[in-house]
Amino acid sequence: MSEQTSYVVYFLPQKIQKRRYEVMIASAKKKGLNLVSSFSDRVTHLVTDLDKWENIEKALQEKNTNRDVTVLKSEWLSRCLKEGKFSDPINSEVLQIRPVALESQDSGKKEAIVKEYACMRKTPLKSKNPDIVSALETLSENAFFHDDEARRLAFQKAAGVIKSLNFKIKNINQVKGLHDVGKHSLEVIKDIIEEGSSIEVENIINDPWFHQMKAFQSIYGVGPSKAKKWIAQNVFTIDDLIERTDLHSSFDHRMELGISFYKDLNTQVTKQHALAIKNLIQQHLEEILPGCILVLAGGFRRGKASGHDADILLTHPIEGKEIGLLPKLLNLLSDSGLVLHGTMETGHNNPQTIMKDKGKPLASNVDHFDKWIGIMKIDKNLKDLDSSDNENDLIQLEQNSLTETSIETKKGRLSKKRSFVQTLDNNEDFARDTKKKLASNSKMSFEQLLALSSKDKQWVARRVDIIVVPVSQFFYALVGWTGNKWFNRSLRLYSQRVLGLKLTSHGLFDLNRGTSLPANSEHQVFDNLKLEYIEPTDRNC
Ligand code: UTP
Ligand code: MN
Repeated sequence: MSEQTSYVVYFLPQKIQKRRYEVMIASAKKKGLNLVSSFSDRVTHLVTDLDKWENIEKALQEKNTNRDVTVLKSEWLSRCLKEGKFSDPINSEVLQIRPVALESQDSGKKEAIVKEYACMRKTPLKSKNPDIVSALETLSENAFFHDDEARRLAFQKAAGVIKSLNFKIKNINQVKGLHDVGKHSLEVIKDIIEEGSSIEVENIINDPWFHQMKAFQSIYGVGPSKAKKWIAQNVFTIDDLIERTDLHSSFDHRMELGISFYKDLNTQVTKQHALAIKNLIQQHLEEILPGCILVLAGGFRRGKASGHDADILLTHPIEGKEIGLLPKLLNLLSDSGLVLHGTMETGHNNPQTIMKDKGKPLASNVDHFDKWIGIMKIDKNLKDLDSSDNENDLIQLEQNSLTETSIETKKGRLSKKRSFVQTLDNNEDFARDTKKKLASNSKMSFEQLLALSSKDKQWVARRVDIIVVPVSQFFYALVGWTGNKWFNRSLRLYSQRVLGLKLTSHGLFDLNRGTSLPANSEHQVFDNLKLEYIEPTDRNC
């Protein structure tokens, strides 16, 4: 490796066994490796068996060692000695304890500590390094299109780490050795800092295949495998999909909707518009069950001004009142002409199904709430709502669960079983009838849908998810449905690996014992997880 000469390594004698230390130093000398006998500004790599940063500083007799030295475990050195050359460390050889990234060589004040799990870091919506983030996310997306899940995740993780940095990267050394920023990502970052762009990323962006994949992916109901098939069949645009009648038999109903209402569904929903939709739903709910609490979750709660759908969580301060609510709501919305299409899931939120999650993949976001995933018809004249009222409901709910409602909730929980059984039959019949009714609504053919979407209509099609949550599970559901996806993934992995507990949108479970930890606020969810609280707006990994 030509970089060989750029390695100036200092090996700290503290903590390591004396004999081992001496043998390693001697071996390095014999192999002509540049291992120096004292720490100085020239040192690029610091090797140590110490595992606390304060101890390293003490050993170096320097406070705030404000230099961009990479700190490595002695395993790295052992490997290099074996190989006879210094080579780039692999992730497990990098010590994660150090504030590795420094604002600049001279300031030394502004440091970023990159913690191992994304759920331990603050990740704001706006990155200080947008070009690098976008490049890494392009690489991740491209890997996803090629079914390479490992690469997708590796680039996504690197992007997440960069997003969490609170300074603009000016020098590649500032990010060398950072957790989860691998060799490939480093090369891309280096190219962007030094050349202004990465050829690899530019090539992807300019690749027509990538463009088409992105365009087809953005159609409701279409995944990468379908998109690939179409491209292979020389289909390039949405219009092609409509004109090529030979393809139509392979479309399912969701795709037909996605294609017909492409324009509506791919117009970003603003937060004010999403809040107005939430309000509209709330007004209908008042007729069925007064006192329900609705919260707009998803990207909007993380501070996004616009998004692709409205994710709405629905609960009632009295546990059990929410049972059977969803079919009633959908029935009413449908009667008001507000439903274009949707799928409704009901009746799976019970301990048996939750226990079955035990064997599910660690980071899976599957949950068992009653939910409706669909498309609403929203009047073009619906007035936008101001953002302020979204969290008021939440505060109300937190206060409720702290005061008299918690007693109600407990009562509700005890009596729930009986009332649940009593109402179950009715609910199931009603749910079945509503499902049938909704299904007959969506019997429209592709031609009819195309005609409907192209005529001068007074409404727009909007993607809406309604998730019905028992109040006892509400704050876990809120964390889950606020996201983002990568934040959740990290929370769930952390929880399993560090605490040995299973985190889902239903709760935090010890599945072996069959117990769970209740939470009356998001803060309590983080407390239960033994994590520092991260604001929703800092969950944009
Ligand atoms: P979205 O896919 O709506 O993402 O899921 P988003 O962040 O709001 O992005 P835009 O702005 O709409 O494009 C919202 C959250 O709900 C979780 C996701 O993991 C994400 O964190 N979710 C989504 C689930 O838990 N289960 C699902 O079935 C779908
Ligand atoms: Mn969303």
